[in-house]
Amino acid sequence: MQYQELKEIHGAKVLVTGGAGFIGSNLCETLLEHGINVVCLDNFATGKRENIQPFLSNSLFTLIEGDIRNLTDCQTACQGVDYVLHQAALGSVPRSIKDPITTNEVNISGFLNMLVAVRDAKVKRFVYAASSSTYGDHEALPKVEEVIGKPLSPYAITKYVNELYADIFHKTYQLDTVGLRYFNVFGRRQDPNGAYAAVIPKFVMQLMEHEPPVINGDGSYSRDFTYIDNVVQMNVLAMTTSNQNALNTVYNVAYGERTTLLELTNILKTNLATFDPAIKAIEIKHRDNRLGDIPHSLASIDKAKQLLNYQPKYDIANGIREAVTWYWEHLK
Ligand SMILES: NC(=O)c1ccc[n+]([C@@H]2O[C@H](COP(=O)([O-])OP(=O)(O)OC[C@H]3O[C@@H](n4cnc5c(N)ncnc54)[C@H](O)[C@@H]3O)[C@@H](O)[C@H]2O)c1
Repeated sequence: MQYQELKEIHGAKVLVTGGAGFIGSNLCETLLEHGINVVCLDNFATGKRENIQPFLSNSLFTLIEGDIRNLTDCQTACQGVDYVLHQAALGSVPRSIKDPITTNEVNISGFLNMLVAVRDAKVKRFVYAASSSTYGDHEALPKVEEVIGKPLSPYAITKYVNELYADIFHKTYQLDTVGLRYFNVFGRRQDPNGAYAAVIPKFVMQLMEHEPPVINGDGSYSRDFTYIDNVVQMNVLAMTTSNQNALNTVYNVAYGERTTLLELTNILKTNLATFDPAIKAIEIKHRDNRLGDIPHSLASIDKAKQLLNYQPKYDIANGIREAVTWYWEHLK
């Protein structure tokens, strides 16, 4: 995807924290394609070297192996940087339930370290990964940015605290920030393995191996599944907008439609069956609902459309087609 906005900041230097992760590596890739200097700060806690391997030979790319829990690492990474796209965090609600202390240290103390480093380095703008989990127990659909409920997990608390800190750093130190509340992102390079894998890559891998995917609950829970290229677009828009009214706030990043888990699994099966027809017959299994999961999630994307001119290019059908093709070609 070509972005005129990035062509206009050609030669700028952007720090992507968590750049070896799923979303971060996709951001690095797009920035490099537009001639932007990219610094990637990552400790490879969940990120992978193979995600950034193709960038290592690019003279525009610098890897700093470091930890956002270490202020000096954050300060080193921020030197001479114009913009920060902060993605480094420990994701996953179940991980945060199992180990709330580490999630808190990375997602809150690490976030605060980054804010201090960004402030001191006089970075122009700090765009950060927030989360739809901040809507917590508020049941109304679609989710609008100004109305949130109580958090339902330690992870959700950390992501909400990020928003509070960003707001205070704007009010106290005039730092410009934009928070992006991602809704269930999926696409190339999302990790299918491990206990905390997201549902789409996990099910794709299971189906490719002819194992039945296991849905938590009866499959009626629904999500606003968001293809990675829509997320990259929002980061680009938030980083480059000249609309001052669009800054120092948070946005939903989603497609604006919801799909049930059962529908999703059937879409995955249909797409994978074009590569291997036997997949169509694999049966779906069910188990109990998971602690901390909300029944339904659907975003209003009106605010992003109005203030940032966001125009998501990929609906779930097109996004899943791209993602499934990538997994088939790279991991089968
Ligand atoms: N994927 C989603 O659906 C989703 C939804 C809502 C919010 N988010 C947020 O988006 C961001 C990126 O998520 P992702 O899906 O790409 O996850 P990911 O796990 O693939 O990427 C996170 C990256 O951060 C790095 N990291 C973790 N702890 C670190 C530390 N202490 N210091 C330096 N680097 C560290 C990891 O090694 C990894 O490369 C996260 O902040 C996550 O909370 C993601």
